[in-house]
Amino acid sequence: MAVERTLSIIKPDAVAKNVIGEIITRFEKAGLKVVEARMQQLTREEAEGFYAVHKERPFFNDLVGFMISGPVFIQVLEGENAIQKNRDLMGATDPKKAEPGTIRADFADSIDANAVHGSDAPETAAVEIAYFFGK
Ligand code: TYD
Repeated sequence: MAVERTLSIIKPDAVAKNVIGEIITRFEKAGLKVVEARMQQLTREEAEGFYAVHKERPFFNDLVGFMISGPVFIQVLEGENAIQKNRDLMGATDPKKAEPGTIRADFADSIDANAVHGSDAPETAAVEIAYFFGK
């Protein structure tokens, strides 16, 4: 299996709940390494650009508003099969549908305040990592 990199964001709801450490521990226990990280207050423009793929969706404005409602913790995770592994650790987008023991099942309150972001494919991982950390 290939060593990959993926972009992870601990969203404002999880930062406010003081569970950054608990979430990173799950990544580390699963064999993912944090190779870049920073805390950042996103501007509206940064959040809109990051989620540009969703700009025609009905939830776009609320999503952007939520993502700028407080600081986020942005990381690059590295490891074997990192993209899918992170998605498995996160659980389904809607925490009500997320498997027990996943980050979203344990820490998220709703589909729009769902604790974490994780890249969904190698192409998006490359674009998202470059968006926040450059080449
Ligand atoms: P999406 O890329 O579908 O999910 P994921 O984060 O699991 O890859 O959607 C991006 C974000 O948009 C999602 O994490 C939360 C928000 N969102 C809503 O607020 N309402 C919705 O109905 C959907 C599908 C997403």
